[in-house]
Amino acid sequence: MKDAAPAQIHLRDYTPWPWEVTRTELTFRLDPDATRVTSRLSLRPRPGAAPAPFFLHGEELALLSARIDGIPVSPSVTPEGLTCAVPDGPFTFEAEVEIAPAANTALEGLYMSNGVYATQCEAEGFRRITYYPDRPDVLAPFDVRIESDAPVLLSNGNPGASGPGWAEWHDPWPKPAYLFALVAGDLRAVRDRFTTRSGRAVDLAIWVRPGDEDRCAWALESLKASMRWDEERYGREYDLDIFNIVAVDDFNAGAMENKGLNIFNSALVLASPDTATDSDYERIESVIAHEYFHNWTGNRVTCRDWFQLCLKEGLTVFRDQEFTKDLRSAPVKRIEDASLMRARQFREDGGPLAHPVRPESFVEINNFYTITVYEKGAEVVGMLKRLVGDDAWRRGCDLHFDRHDGQAVTIEDWLSVFEEVTARDLAQFKRWYSQAGTPRVSVSEEWDGTHLTLTFRQSTPPTPGQPEKAPLVIPFAIGLLHPSGAELLPTTVIELTATTETRRFDAAALAAAKGLDTARPVASLNRDFSAPVIVDRPRTTEENAFLLAHDTDPFLRWDAGRDLARAVLCDRATGAAADDGAYLDGLAAVLEDPALDPAFKAQVLALPSEDDIAQTLADRGLPPEPLEIRAAGETQRDRIAARLGDLLARTHDASATPGPYRPDAASAGRRALAGASLALLSRRDGGALARAEFAAAPDMTRSLAALSALLSVGAGAAELAAFEARWRHDRLVMDKWFALQVVRAAPAEAAATARRLIGHPLFTWTTPNRVRSVMGSLAGNAAGFHHPSGAAYDLYTEGLLTLDARNPQTAARLSTAFETWRRYAPDRQAAIRHRLDRIAATPGLSRDLGEMVGRMLG
Ligand code: ARG
Ligand code: ZN
Repeated sequence: MKDAAPAQIHLRDYTPWPWEVTRTELTFRLDPDATRVTSRLSLRPRPGAAPAPFFLHGEELALLSARIDGIPVSPSVTPEGLTCAVPDGPFTFEAEVEIAPAANTALEGLYMSNGVYATQCEAEGFRRITYYPDRPDVLAPFDVRIESDAPVLLSNGNPGASGPGWAEWHDPWPKPAYLFALVAGDLRAVRDRFTTRSGRAVDLAIWVRPGDEDRCAWALESLKASMRWDEERYGREYDLDIFNIVAVDDFNAGAMENKGLNIFNSALVLASPDTATDSDYERIESVIAHEYFHNWTGNRVTCRDWFQLCLKEGLTVFRDQEFTKDLRSAPVKRIEDASLMRARQFREDGGPLAHPVRPESFVEINNFYTITVYEKGAEVVGMLKRLVGDDAWRRGCDLHFDRHDGQAVTIEDWLSVFEEVTARDLAQFKRWYSQAGTPRVSVSEEWDGTHLTLTFRQSTPPTPGQPEKAPLVIPFAIGLLHPSGAELLPTTVIELTATTETRRFDAAALAAAKGLDTARPVASLNRDFSAPVIVDRPRTTEENAFLLAHDTDPFLRWDAGRDLARAVLCDRATGAAADDGAYLDGLAAVLEDPALDPAFKAQVLALPSEDDIAQTLADRGLPPEPLEIRAAGETQRDRIAARLGDLLARTHDASATPGPYRPDAASAGRRALAGASLALLSRRDGGALARAEFAAAPDMTRSLAALSALLSVGAGAAELAAFEARWRHDRLVMDKWFALQVVRAAPAEAAATARRLIGHPLFTWTTPNRVRSVMGSLAGNAAGFHHPSGAAYDLYTEGLLTLDARNPQTAARLSTAFETWRRYAPDRQAAIRHRLDRIAATPGLSRDLGEMVGRMLG
């Protein structure tokens, strides 16, 4: 039976829960098919609370018994929870329920992964463990007892008593249920120790399956670096005697910050030189940091309700970005983050799934763990910091931690500390949290021979439910360059607040002060990607070439190169005459510049993604044709290889990193440049060099780079087989093998390749990493995904439905592959719409996927 449309939850309807939980005691008697959970909640009315029925969330639970103050009661139970008459004053509520972790393929609540019991409670998974006020504004200290014959029994907080077959844990820090965690299984620990700056000794442990112990060193190093960094940069110390991280193979997300017991997707913990790439190492370092940083931004200060998700996620992503900048290269990290925003967040913000950083309604909260909440949320935090300045930023953060420690708070609370510290009104700034859509800043210039006048006009397009937009506060960093290449105006942040703003610069005086002649300067706009906006000020080829060669801002240099490439690719993809002279000259100059960081060079050498070109064409009112875009890229790569071949060969050789593998940023940058050069060189030599490199590859980074280069020139069959034979027993490495074949498949073969891999004995629908390695990669192969045969649309649709029956959260996430459907020509729109309609009409569709498809069909 299918119910009526599932309910929308609204921010405006928030009301606090009428009770407080003063203590939560849980006992687990673990069994794969019949785990017994007994709970004892100590409750008291919240002072001043309006009377309301006593309701506890609970889903897919078998209620065995319930008692109030020790006396058996019979609550009335629905699929969402239970209600019960309760006394007026304080009371205890006890329940015993039964759940079946082995049958839990949704991976929310308590489930089993490879024989290990694990939990994922954020956002609303705890209600699948027992009856509880499963909302982030109800905080309590937890006492947990686990009974099981599994050798390792873990939960949050500090360890208590234990004996054969049982262990107790006590978490003194009041927390909401979404931060609860339990792990039990045959696990091995790799241990270390950290002494906080006030002298607290903390035992660190990373728990993995037997055999994986030698892949934990990097995660441990990253953890210690994170703990040190948070002390130094934010004055934040760790607050328990023990910090545990567990790696599990089946996990919907990347990782989870459960108090004192982080649970990670094993792909974001395990690394050794022969199994993980440089990008894996960087990713592990930043996700370990992210989850650790949540201990303060998320756990000690949490969210009042799920609409405030960006309070913890935007801030914590911002902090992990800062951490990576400090440990690695700040400009390279900025380019990575800006590329991600443009490639994925702008796409979300410009389509049917657009929503504000703080959404105002949802059906399924899991659908709002998005690039907008996380990454745009982090950009908003970065703008706030830029506006208030470093000093007020730190004082504001201190005040936030001080004032709200142990509380569940809102964006208003967060902003008000900065208003207090700076005496600045942030009401207009707050629109960044409530308005969806990517703002555009169009810039026009007027030159009168001595002064350059810049006029800025901002606008934000309509998005679902938000036809009208008000102006935002935009910190817009600019610089001015003299045609000689000298910098006339160093980076200056202009605060744009009105729809139209004008600034006048005395270029003659600026030039004279440097002993230069008066000449019209070149404006360098939105330096360092200071605001997540689209700058509407088309640059000429000459300006781009000039900025690529001379700008002092590394982000802008890269951006200018990207613009050159984008223009050439758009021309090629639409059959216009393409002149790539300036682009190729610019590339050559960058490669030859000994002062530039190899990692930066590798980023300049990469072409814009096919999705970037598709979006650029769509913005110009031209329906993109994915096959033409693919062909344009292929032609361009051939031309780069032909024109810069010798330079690429020299670059490749000069980027060698002899000696044992080291994951540091400098070594990784050299390998990235060598790999990018190798891919292009393969177009000249048919893959000869890549074949040799594959055979001799000393680590996974180079093995995969060589294999990828081979597959992109239609070679590599023998190498793929050799790779499979060698790594068949390694899940994480095999994910790379699955993914690469789909990503590199020719457009006409992508769907067939994916279909064949779904039939591979190692494919399974129950491990999200494996599903993503095929399905996610198919969506990532734009020309293959949108091939006119429609074969990929069909396969993808079938796959989503198969997955939805097991794991709605991951199915819903993958469905965003269709979010761009309206940018294409009518026949392709109709083809995609047809598949979306088919999904929408499927009986028993999950709330997760149902909401996504409904929003996409709009
Ligand atoms: N809080 C976790 C993190 O950012 C992610 C949790 C994902 N949960 C979800 N329902 N999608 O590290
Ligand atoms: Zn997070």
